[in-house]
Amino acid sequence: MDTIKSVKGFKDFFGLDAEIFEAIEKTLFGVAEAYGYKRIILPVVEYTELFSRSVGEETDIVKKEMYTFTDKNERSLTLRPEMTASVARSYIENHFETYPTPFKVAYLGPCFRYENPQKGRYRGFYQFGVEAFGDDSPLLDAEVISLAFSALQKFNIKGLKVKINSIGCRKCRPNYRKALVDALTQHYDELCSDCKRRLETNPMRILDCKKESKELKDSLPKTIDYLRDECKDHFNAVTNYLISMNIPYEVDNTLVRGLDYYTRTVFEVISEDLGSQNALLGGGRYDYLIEELGGRPTPGVGFALGVERLIEILKAQKFTVKEKSIIYIAYQKSSITKAIKVAQTIRDAGFTVLVDTKCGNFKNQLERSAKRNAKFTIIIGESEIASNTLQIKNMATKEQKEIKEVELLNALKERQNA
Ligand code: HAM
Repeated sequence: MDTIKSVKGFKDFFGLDAEIFEAIEKTLFGVAEAYGYKRIILPVVEYTELFSRSVGEETDIVKKEMYTFTDKNERSLTLRPEMTASVARSYIENHFETYPTPFKVAYLGPCFRYENPQKGRYRGFYQFGVEAFGDDSPLLDAEVISLAFSALQKFNIKGLKVKINSIGCRKCRPNYRKALVDALTQHYDELCSDCKRRLETNPMRILDCKKESKELKDSLPKTIDYLRDECKDHFNAVTNYLISMNIPYEVDNTLVRGLDYYTRTVFEVISEDLGSQNALLGGGRYDYLIEELGGRPTPGVGFALGVERLIEILKAQKFTVKEKSIIYIAYQKSSITKAIKVAQTIRDAGFTVLVDTKCGNFKNQLERSAKRNAKFTIIIGESEIASNTLQIKNMATKEQKEIKEVELLNALKERQNA
């Protein structure tokens, strides 16, 4: 019979991948908590309009990459391609404006984009991210970047670069848009059919079109030259804070990011270890998003990191996860009740315990214990039951010692780090 495979572009996590996933989750939420972010858990499905209104009609994400379907009631639904829009929807719906500002949340969950799968690019992938609302202070932009940076530092990752730019606000945009359209009109014939349309609808999206050449993009006007004084000051303040926070960064005036909701600060952290899909995380400010989704004007800033990409970097840099040691329980059939009870006691004390399920002779049970890389095997036979004792065998040194049953927990704790 044919076996069933996973869907193209979707991935299973097991073994080292799953262990690193768990370490990432723990570390990132730990760092986010240290900056005052609380976890938010949101649905994977939203009304399609949420993304077309926030990420933008002319973006590759909305135009080409969304998993969109109609439900039995003819409503258009979409598997979220990213989570900022969902957090903004939740902010408005749940009246988070009534909480003290800045209102800070952190999330981790699956996202879906119908892209061509390749190294570091999947159709189903996980994002960890943070969003902070209600404050347009440049300190918050710098703090969000610092949070991302400190989280990555916890893993001792080498070869990371923070790239940052400002794309201004809606008051800076008209002048920039005009300059961009003038420049692009001169190259009209070279543009792909999507970009010819974008020239009318949303020319800034041409800057992140994968089909247009780097030479063309590099030759175009830069947002930084069209910033009003207020936006320029904001950007300078962000970079000054980064300097005082000791965060190495590089201003990259070609960075615009492929989502429509950004204003002012945009940034990415890229890694040499990722090949062509080199962005480990991306983010920025989105001061009009809440209002464009029908809420009261509320600024926001955040970032999201691709968990699969971080796992790839960590594996390339030989990251290891410290495994918890295993205690194995071998017993004679007549001692099974005692074996179960002992296992429960030591599990309750926080140890990982495997009880042999096949039983049989001790030699075979010890072989199975060795195969599991157990640190200790506890041996329980009839004579041990009669004397309220247990045998504890160190699997590395082969040393075996009889101890009183009541001393077991202390004996394990003493030996744990030996
Ligand atoms: P984004 O740049 O589209 O931004 O995605 C953020 C990160 O998600 C990327 O840097 C990458 O690591 C990962 N990622 C994106 N697409 C894929 C894929 N197909 N396969 C694997 N990983 C992927 C956002 O989504 C914004 N919501 C970030 C943000 C939060 N801005 C402000 N707040």
